Amino acid sequence: MRKKIIAGNWKMNNDIFQTTDLLNGLKEKISSSEHLVIVCPPFTSLVVAQQLLKNSPIKLGAQDVSLFDSGAYTGEISVGMLKAAGCSYVIVGHSERRQYHGETNEIINKKAKKVLDAGLIPIICIGETLDEREKGITDQILTTQTKGVLADFSNAEVEKSIIAYEPVWAIGTGKTATKEQAEESHQLIRKVISQMYSWATAEKVIIQYGGSVKSENAKELLSQPNIDGALVGGACLKADSFAAIITAV
Ligand code: PGA
Repeated sequence: MRKKIIAGNWKMNNDIFQTTDLLNGLKEKISSSEHLVIVCPPFTSLVVAQQLLKNSPIKLGAQDVSLFDSGAYTGEISVGMLKAAGCSYVIVGHSERRQYHGETNEIINKKAKKVLDAGLIPIICIGETLDEREKGITDQILTTQTKGVLADFSNAEVEKSIIAYEPVWAIGTGKTATKEQAEESHQLIRKVISQMYSWATAEKVIIQYGGSVKSENAKELLSQPNIDGALVGGACLKADSFAAIITAV
């Protein structure tokens, strides 16, 4: 049985003061959970978050990481810095990074490897755009992305990694994939992983769904056999709505 993992991607929201308020609210509501709960605040809030989450089951993640370990890379944050700040997870290849920062499957693959090499767990995002879905090439896109982001991963590395299937047209739009659409894509991703490795390995990989997840649709989506969790954006910014998703599934 795969564990359900619910992660909140705060994106560029919440300064250190707002972080304190939100996490105090969340800690009150989630003192224990059968699911694994992760929050991914902006870099500037990580240290504050680490301290606030000390006696909490909620784990800490970052939203991105540098390809490099140290040196003249202005504005970048290394995986070592994230580890020292208390992160156990790192989101890589979010569609907003692909769209606004030109991140390719190759870059995302390298970042995910960096994260794994440091002993952290990458949450690797893939997903088709509306145009690609309308052209009927969703399966082709997801196959290419899955193979690209996992290129040269060992069995153990792929089993440790989390994949987040996030159809780009569902992110921040209020349009959620139907449970059938999401399950179909998750099945395909798992099949591609099984062809690259084995069914035994593919069965172990956590595949989250992301894109306008809220408490009203979380249970239906996460009760699909191949949907093992959620990557939540908008609805994770309020303690009430994030906690409601966690208790709904
Ligand atoms: P959303 O964002 O829940 O606001 O659609 C999800 C994400 O971008 O990870």
